[in-house]
Amino acid sequence: MTAAATIGIIGGSGLYDLLGDDAESREVDTPYGRPSSPVSIGQFAGRTVAFLPRHGTGHSVAPHLINARANIWALASLGVTALVSTAAVGSIRAEYPPRALAVLDQIVDYTHGRTGTFFDQGDVQHLPFSDPFDPVLRRIMLEVAPEAQPTATIGIIPGPRFSTRAESARYRGDGVDLLNMTLAPEVALAAELGIGAVTLAIVTDTDAGESADDPDTVSAELVFRRLSEALPRIREIIAGVVAGVPGDFAPRELIAAEAVRRVLERPTTG
Ligand code: ADE
Repeated sequence: MTAAATIGIIGGSGLYDLLGDDAESREVDTPYGRPSSPVSIGQFAGRTVAFLPRHGTGHSVAPHLINARANIWALASLGVTALVSTAAVGSIRAEYPPRALAVLDQIVDYTHGRTGTFFDQGDVQHLPFSDPFDPVLRRIMLEVAPEAQPTATIGIIPGPRFSTRAESARYRGDGVDLLNMTLAPEVALAAELGIGAVTLAIVTDTDAGESADDPDTVSAELVFRRLSEALPRIREIIAGVVAGVPGDFAPRELIAAEAVRRVLERPTTG
């Protein structure tokens, strides 16, 4: 029997496997259906971790169709309290050039139509979300990755298409630095279930481009190419963070533990 996994890892685009063939692959039923893929449970950086590729193995789940409630509920049901994730992002700010890394600290959510809460079934809770990412985990990631920008505001767009030049300019005017399609509602759902989250953002492109002939203008091909170039360092950083999570890590209790327990006791669909 594998030990409980208190550390979860969600792999973004380009990161579909982390633990290798020795990991246990577990199908997890949730009250919301199946997660993006079976959860891999195994040893990584000396700890028992649960790994889930956000887009499914082989990138089969489009951003707007990711079942974030199933993904987060599955990890919480396995005992996860610390969530380390990666995200490919486009940059709309010169301070975050292509290939830069950033440890996100703020979110502006432009998505619509995604269910962003577990508390919609008579048990209403309002998540305090001023600082969406866990401060302890952010500090650990910054120690492990001193080259990363220590703050960045991520704007989450609906996708799967990329932004127009006018949308990109609007997001910049809103104070957004980086763009992605998948961190909402994932980070908020984790916070609702008492899971502290930290995300390593990998800048792959300049979104709509600084000019019509900017070679860093986003394309799916560019995103995947830049991610695969960054993969060795991404793995190192995740390993460092996993190893650095304190054994007695206790995330902020943003929703009463009793309400969280009721969510985790809901019957599954399987
Ligand atoms: N992921 C990587 N680059 C992106 C961009 N420019 N917009 C949204 N998501 C992205």
